[in-house]
Amino acid sequence: MASEQQIFDGTQEESSNPHSPSMHELEALTDKTILSHQDEGKIASTEFENIQKRYQDLTATLPHAKGWFEKAPFIGYCGHWIIEPLLAGCLHAQDFFQARPVDFFICSYPKSGTTWLKALAFSIVNRSRFDDSSNPLLKRNPHELVPFIEIESAFFPQVDVLKDEGNTLFSTHMPHGLLPESISNSGCKMVYIWRDPKDTFISMWTFFQKQKFGSGPLNSLEECFDMFCLGFSGYGPYLDHVMSYWKAYQENPNKILFLKYETMREDPLPHVKRLAEFMGYGFTAEEEEKGVVEKVVNLCSFETLKNLEANKGEKYREDIPLNAYKNSAYFRKGKVGDWQTYLTPEMAARIDGLMEERFKGTGLLEHF
Ligand code: A3P
Repeated sequence: MASEQQIFDGTQEESSNPHSPSMHELEALTDKTILSHQDEGKIASTEFENIQKRYQDLTATLPHAKGWFEKAPFIGYCGHWIIEPLLAGCLHAQDFFQARPVDFFICSYPKSGTTWLKALAFSIVNRSRFDDSSNPLLKRNPHELVPFIEIESAFFPQVDVLKDEGNTLFSTHMPHGLLPESISNSGCKMVYIWRDPKDTFISMWTFFQKQKFGSGPLNSLEECFDMFCLGFSGYGPYLDHVMSYWKAYQENPNKILFLKYETMREDPLPHVKRLAEFMGYGFTAEEEEKGVVEKVVNLCSFETLKNLEANKGEKYREDIPLNAYKNSAYFRKGKVGDWQTYLTPEMAARIDGLMEERFKGTGLLEHF
């Protein structure tokens, strides 16, 4: 088992991240990004460079710890571990993302059901705009339709969805405490999804194996598991991430809907109805009678999305220039309890114990 000291031995090397290119690769993109900023009269090129430099300078002063990938150390920021350039993306979101009261946020820890929720939220909000054959979800990966505030908004402002002022759906993996102030100041609503940490861990480790470039070799399952349990994972500690939203939910239950992957997987329909209601897009009695809820559930199901051309084989997103993952990487097994294929009973007991201890007395486990 790795000690905390060993984990802190990580270097400050340049690194890549699970969702977007490394700093080095981003530099190559600077011209494109800058042009886009200039065109839209938002942030001038030198200003953008200065901002990135400021984030790099800040990052250099923060604690670095060994990451799951050889070349992607975790950077400690406000009690969480984030890798570059996602940290720069988070800082950018904090500084520049301007939420509007109508905006809705899909918040999650990575690999706990984000893609599914993005598809559901998009289908719910846009159900009167598209029919069964014209829904953009049939042609595009859900991540193209609901942007991350710390990825697309920060680094790829040229994507279609960000040019569409009518879009009100955004997402983030940032813990609640790091969210841009404009989100709470605007009184925005959000949904949070969490998942059994054992399956979240396995989903993340297997996902990282599919990374195309950048971060060097991935550590063994055992090493990464040990780090995950010690709190070292992207946007981690995982249990603190869940707690950050649970606390916010308890303080303001009208603004946050708290969902769990496993309960939704068991019977998605009532949760999809609740989500629609919460978003202000509740299904009418007539829609329910016509089976519109079932249609949304079916379109967004794991089986449907996984088997679409857009999410199969060698296909990559076309709206951003560099992709570390194929679209198919976001659809693996979608199974509850797949951890049993990978973890020993001892490993499972360790993580279950940590979860019970962390969540004890908070009311979270009793909520589901
Ligand atoms: P597995 O790796 O266990 O299969 P995220 O979207 O947060 O990255 O989470 C990815 C996990 O959600 C993966 O889990 C993936 O297979 C699963 N997933 C993706 N789309 C889904 C859907 N429509 N319904 C249920 N699970 C889905």
